[in-house]
Amino acid sequence: MYDFDTIMDHRGTGSLKWDTVKEGVIPLWVADMDFPCLPELREALRKRADHPFYGYQAGGDSYYEAIRSWYGERHGLELDRTHILAGPGTVLSLGIAVREFSREGEGVLLLTPVYTPFFEVVRENRRRVVDVPLAADPAGRFILDIDNIEEALDRAGAEGIRTPLALFCSPHNPGGRVWTGEEIAAFLDLVRRRNMFAAVDEIHGDFVYPENAAGKPQRFVSAASLPEFQDRTLVISGANKSFNLGGLHISHFVIKDGAPRRIIQAALHREAHHQGDVFAELAVETVYRRGAAWLDEVLDYLRENIRRALERLNGIPGIRAFTPDGTYLIWADVRGLAERRGCQNTAELVRRLEDEAAVKITAGSIYGPPGEGRARINAAAPRKLLLEGLRRLEAWA
Ligand SMILES: Cc1ncc(COP(=O)(O)O)c(C=O)c1O
Repeated sequence: MYDFDTIMDHRGTGSLKWDTVKEGVIPLWVADMDFPCLPELREALRKRADHPFYGYQAGGDSYYEAIRSWYGERHGLELDRTHILAGPGTVLSLGIAVREFSREGEGVLLLTPVYTPFFEVVRENRRRVVDVPLAADPAGRFILDIDNIEEALDRAGAEGIRTPLALFCSPHNPGGRVWTGEEIAAFLDLVRRRNMFAAVDEIHGDFVYPENAAGKPQRFVSAASLPEFQDRTLVISGANKSFNLGGLHISHFVIKDGAPRRIIQAALHREAHHQGDVFAELAVETVYRRGAAWLDEVLDYLRENIRRALERLNGIPGIRAFTPDGTYLIWADVRGLAERRGCQNTAELVRRLEDEAAVKITAGSIYGPPGEGRARINAAAPRKLLLEGLRRLEAWA
């Protein structure tokens, strides 16, 4: 049994989540988990740090083998060692995909709301965002409306925008949707029919609960497991979310087909990402080899956190919080609350919560226009801290 209940002081570590808010504020925003890492990881890093040489790394097969076994044992996905390429952080890797599979001025398809850096990697590489709002079912769960996406691509085409690439977030941040195999196949089929390419961000793939929000059994389906689309797909993933290694900036590509793989391999070499980091690769190898039981306990703990948080949030007038299929993020409609408290928009609501209630959540509007009126709450915190944050929200509401 690991201890996820102890509330630790993160201040003074340069933490984005903790060190950028005023003292006393409970941060339920940045997607870090406030749990101490796998003890074996700490031990492995300490041991390596004790060896006083941090020079260039040759990289070892054991790192790739650890990733390969993780996919096989955890997700039933058989990979060859050659399918895996070590990359920098996930967002940097998305940037590489954008540069390699689209040209300046071209469009990149995003289904929004979506993790903010998706917009940034498109715009900062001088491509255009082709933004398609995700549809929702009557229960408020995001769904893929393929016809709607086709129409948006047609509209972009009519304006002279060629759209050769889609960035797809699976599972979905901020919505917490775990797309089913059928949904992923339908999306990739569209990508193929349109002669496009898809870069699929699966960084949240290890956070899939046994049942989805509708109570149906589910599992994580990697886009790399659908054989008919591999010439049009690359997957970017990593241990960053699963084991809280965001500060180590490492990800990996899974690309089964040789043609796109050679493109990314060449790009990684050109961008000098062919040599590993002393600590990051060791960390990934350690967590994948030794962290399965730790992650299982984290998942159980998170499920209960999410259950309790939803109970709390849905008792607050003006909030409608949606059950996530996966991830540790809760997406909520907060329009009623914003209106009742006289806030012009969600950004103001979130700012006032931080200033007046000492709890910080994320405004949905940072994930694109369809996120306005919504908020994202990070449930990966010691339970007492999470519930105290939500109690403050409730008291302020
Ligand atoms: C969908 C998604 N992709 C990428 C990242 C960040 O990954 P990295 O730190 O490896 O760049 C996050 C972090 O929250 C995320 O939610």
